[in-house]
Amino acid sequence: MYHPWTVKYKPKTLKEVVGNREAIQKFVEWVKSWNKGIPKKRAAFLYGPPGIGKTVTVEALANDLKMELVEKNASDYRTEEAVKRFAGLASQYSSLFGTKRIILFDELDGLTGTADKGGVKAITDIIKTAQCPIVLVANSAYDPRFINLRNYCLLIEFKKPSSTDVLKHLKAICLKEGIKAEENALKFIAQRSEGDIRSAVNDLQALAQGKKHLTYDDVSWLGYRDRQETIFTVLRMILYGRTCEGAKRAVNMADVDIDMLFEWIYENVPAHLTDPHDLARAMDALSMADVYRGRIRSTQDWSFVRYVIDFMTAGVAMARVNTKPSGWTPFHFPGRVQMLSRSKGERAMQLEIGRKVKRRCHISATRASKEVLPYLRIIFKNNVEMAAGLAKWLDLSPEMIEYLAENKEKAEAINKLLS
Ligand SMILES: Nc1ncnc2c1ncn2[C@@H]1O[C@H](COP(=O)(O)OP(=O)(O)OP(=O)(O)O)[C@@H](O)[C@H]1O
Ligand SMILES: [Mg+2]
Repeated sequence: MYHPWTVKYKPKTLKEVVGNREAIQKFVEWVKSWNKGIPKKRAAFLYGPPGIGKTVTVEALANDLKMELVEKNASDYRTEEAVKRFAGLASQYSSLFGTKRIILFDELDGLTGTADKGGVKAITDIIKTAQCPIVLVANSAYDPRFINLRNYCLLIEFKKPSSTDVLKHLKAICLKEGIKAEENALKFIAQRSEGDIRSAVNDLQALAQGKKHLTYDDVSWLGYRDRQETIFTVLRMILYGRTCEGAKRAVNMADVDIDMLFEWIYENVPAHLTDPHDLARAMDALSMADVYRGRIRSTQDWSFVRYVIDFMTAGVAMARVNTKPSGWTPFHFPGRVQMLSRSKGERAMQLEIGRKVKRRCHISATRASKEVLPYLRIIFKNNVEMAAGLAKWLDLSPEMIEYLAENKEKAEAINKLLS
């Protein structure tokens, strides 16, 4: 079973929550003040960017203070009637067994459109007479819909934790997972996450799970763009899309180019479409997309791009017929891209050597690197004299010699003969 690290390493107590000490302190004081009587503001409004621990803070606090947490998401209180159902709960501080209660309306900005106006108003009404602490959580408290609601709330801003804080959290996880990670590698993930701890932890898991060592090379190829959270959302829209339009729209949201997106989809289709017929259909669609990609490459006629997009998004989305949703399946980084970018340096070197061979043997550099290079390797590994002669004839650089010999001492011996 796949176990997301964001769940596995979710803070259980406030001490484990990274960053935002002041905000957390303010929040704790407000909750504790309820023991001395109803405070001026009966609701706290925690707001700030995604993935920084707003929800987790409320959960950890309830756990620390042994309070009963009634937790609701936007989908539970979409309408006025739905909200009113919580009025009864809010009318008492202690539950039947004496535990103190706290009510959380999470993801408030998930309420959309005019139909939900009643919802926000109903929440405001509950707050006005609440007998227990009510907590609201949203990314922004300054949405026009919350103008009136804000008056009844203690506003508490959550800020992005520093990348040093994120780094500390990643280090702790590696320690518990028994992964030796280079400082640089973790720093890179932390900086890339821009304070979003959830996505930093997701990045770490995708890159490091099952490894003993995590090096800078393992992570650096990600680059600073294509933040994983975005690409994950895009992939979800395509692999789990129910409409062609929805799946197609995902392309505009992706901050990777079409070729990279193709690799992401190609890598992840098999794990997410487990029914063989569905998978065959999806692969069929991808192969069609690839045919058009090939046409674009050979003709430079970019009008084909719409077929590429249609096949790789809508084509893949519509392939899902029989596959049943099966819990949580992780998305993987495209292995092909990772491999290619790792071997980029190596391929450049092979081509350089190929160019040297080309000058002497009058064949193309590509052909030389494919056909001659393997023999050069054997010679350089086994016969120092012959290697030195060839190196002179081909005018190879010391780096090339070392590459062919795959061994520092051998390369030195060859260089010595040369000089
Ligand atoms: N400050 C933090 N300390 C430790 N872990 C964190 C922190 N913030 C986020 N996480 C990790 O990320 C996950 C998601 O955090 P949480 O749900 O609290 O984010 P949020 O701020 O409520 O985001 P959203 O606005 O998207 O709801 C947690 O389960 C935890 O694993
Ligand atoms: Mg949340």
